[in-house]
Amino acid sequence: MARRGCRVKRAYGPGARRPIAGEEVVKTKVVELTEESLVQAPEWEIHPYSCKYCIYWEHPELCIDPATEVKEERLALKRAWLRRVRGEWGSCGRLLFVGDKAVGYVQYAPVRFLPGADGYPAGPVSEDAVLLACLFVPNPRHRRRGLGSALLAAVLQDLTGRGSKAIETFARRGSLENPSGPAEFYLKHGFRVLRDDPEFPLLRLDL
Ligand SMILES: CC(C)(COP(=O)(O)OP(=O)(O)OC[C@H]1O[C@@H](n2cnc3c(N)ncnc32)[C@H](O)[C@@H]1OP(=O)(O)O)[C@@H](O)C(=O)NCCC(=O)NCCS
Repeated sequence: MARRGCRVKRAYGPGARRPIAGEEVVKTKVVELTEESLVQAPEWEIHPYSCKYCIYWEHPELCIDPATEVKEERLALKRAWLRRVRGEWGSCGRLLFVGDKAVGYVQYAPVRFLPGADGYPAGPVSEDAVLLACLFVPNPRHRRRGLGSALLAAVLQDLTGRGSKAIETFARRGSLENPSGPAEFYLKHGFRVLRDDPEFPLLRLDL
């Protein structure tokens, strides 16, 4: 499933502002995250385990010592997770491309598929909600160009079309990173604080 033609700087997703004169407009494409498309997920230099190898949400019990982790094993686990969730629940992620390069990643599912959510003090995630586990535009050079908003818009469109009641996420206060990005981003897009926390508040948007 590919959604083409969204134009960025600026994307016209919820909350994104219109381009102003002189701003570059870049064509983007949003593609479903599948076992096959996973290999195209963005990678970055500062951490060896980019999204395609990350099993923090899916298998927290295996995230103990990065030095002993084998990328191929993690990729296989991630693929098996995608196969299971897509089979039992449905579509659960998206990749955002600029040209032929994936620069954004998002993953979401009911919390029963994401045991990594268990340890968050602001939890639990509501039973009627889908958890947006991670939203990521890894390269800071690509941020603040509307790409995160375009990805979020694709998720909301998917969930609304499937009749989901709500989406929740553990956003971050005091840092731009992990797990789904700054609380300001979600508040801008209409989320509210469901349960507050000094570091990882649980934010909710009713759909
Ligand atoms: C969250 C994230 C995806 C947002 O992506 P983005 O492309 O920069 O977001 P957008 O450009 O669509 O931002 C839309 C609006 O959200 C708000 N916003 C975004 N980033 C913000 C920030 N760092 N601080 C405050 N507000 C912010 C702004 O209102 C922004 O609009 P503006 O630029 O016109 O002011 C990105 O910051 C990110 O990837 N962060 C790291 C998340 C992470 O670590 N994920 C897990 C990895 S395992």
